[in-house]
Amino acid sequence: MDPSQPARLVAGYPQTRQRTPAQPLVRRAPTLSERTGPLDLARRLALHGGELAGSGERRAIGQRIHLRVRVLDEDGAPVGGAMFEVWHANAAGRYAHPEDDEHAPLDANFRGDARLTTDASGAIELHTVKPGAYPVPTRDGWWRPPHVHFSVFGRIWLSRLVTQMYFPGEPLNAQDRILNAIPDAAARERCVARFVPPAAEPYDALVYEHAIVLRGCRATPAQP
Ligand SMILES: [Fe+2]
Repeated sequence: MDPSQPARLVAGYPQTRQRTPAQPLVRRAPTLSERTGPLDLARRLALHGGELAGSGERRAIGQRIHLRVRVLDEDGAPVGGAMFEVWHANAAGRYAHPEDDEHAPLDANFRGDARLTTDASGAIELHTVKPGAYPVPTRDGWWRPPHVHFSVFGRIWLSRLVTQMYFPGEPLNAQDRILNAIPDAAARERCVARFVPPAAEPYDALVYEHAIVLRGCRATPAQP
């Protein structure tokens, strides 16, 4: 097993049992469509830009943050034109999703998701609020730390990374069953954003930077 990738089966995380094959995997050649598609995703899917937290009178409640994410290859070269999807809970730790429960309030001004493409420097910028922690429905004391989900699509179906980003200094990071399913501490650290010391601009938001590396020994771990 690669210690920089999460374990398939995680104690106390029941879904990993359901999605882990009981039989050995069967190797097969990728199909033509898997190797060549999807084409023109940016044209076929709606892009909504990186504004998740509204503006003016209709601003979401919570600590405003700017997330500056860069997508890089194993040599540190930018990956432009990648389809980048993001979703996270509101400041109270509630997803705007019918399957989330009533443990915390919704926020009508919080969008909760975005889809955009990386620019030529591999960058996207999100203007949002810091997500709250939330209790997991296992109801055994497991709380997810504040985190942001990302999906990055390359040019073909087989080049997709689904991962999560965490915030530095959060006490729940040390206990999270998903983050700590990655055995290697340095690989876990690659899932944690960097806090940028506040400056005059932006005056109304804290800034975090994060790199997503798609391959190689510094690759960002998958976090389903
Ligand atoms: Fe989540």
